[in-house]
Amino acid sequence: MVYSPYLLKGQKALVTGGSSGIGEGVVRALAAAGASVVVNYHSDSEAAEKIVDEIKLANGEAIAFQADVSQEDDVQAMFAKMFQEFGTIDILVNNAGLQKDSSFVDMTLDQWNLVISVNLTGQFLCAREAAKEFLRRGVQPRISCAAGKIICMSSVHQLIPWAGHVNYATSKGGIDMMMRSIAQELAPQKIRVNSIAPGAIKTPINKSAWDTPEAEAKLLQLIPANRIGNTEDIAKAAVWLASDDSDYVNGTTLYVDGGMTLYPGFATGG
Ligand code: BGC
Repeated sequence: MVYSPYLLKGQKALVTGGSSGIGEGVVRALAAAGASVVVNYHSDSEAAEKIVDEIKLANGEAIAFQADVSQEDDVQAMFAKMFQEFGTIDILVNNAGLQKDSSFVDMTLDQWNLVISVNLTGQFLCAREAAKEFLRRGVQPRISCAAGKIICMSSVHQLIPWAGHVNYATSKGGIDMMMRSIAQELAPQKIRVNSIAPGAIKTPINKSAWDTPEAEAKLLQLIPANRIGNTEDIAKAAVWLASDDSDYVNGTTLYVDGGMTLYPGFATGG
């Protein structure tokens, strides 16, 4: 995909969990569209630095920053670093997330707490810091007609219940209500908050669901489009939601799922 380098020119973006999977795809696309990007990572500094180097080689601007998004101090230090390096923030992509799967009765409190704190509390902490800066700075008409944009990475599981993944599905359901409540509160200040709900995208998080022919065939039964998504499918949606092309879109979830939420079992049943 070729993006116009003018689309997000002069905009400063932060992508949490930007060193792999969907986050990495979003980082690369935002940079290609002209944004300066902070690549947040939790543990893989080598991967994050490699992405930063590649962006710089292509004349883009990027820095890597280690932070655990579930820790308030880490998040505040990350925003402080971003403001020091880039001056401000225009685009937050709340992407960091993980799974700790277990049958419900065997799920430990640690498994529950970890998933809720990274996937949901992490998005809250980052959205709050970004929103404070959007309100302080306000609209800069040469940069964007919004005071700021937040994109929350949700999942089809904000809608589809998921046995064996109660912590994860709950975190995503929470993201939906958090996103819409923030959007309602901050829309008058020209802040836009939206979610992307990916379906099955080929990344490390769901490797076991596609890395054997049997698993892939089973997964494809859930996808009317009959293909597993790739990170570019999500990155294109993120660039659009970050740009002024979506200026009248606020408080919405864009499902990018090949039709997974269309109840494919009903195509021949019911
Ligand atoms: C999960 C993946 C899963 C997909 C579709 C995503 O949110 O992280 O593991 O394959 O939803 O079920």
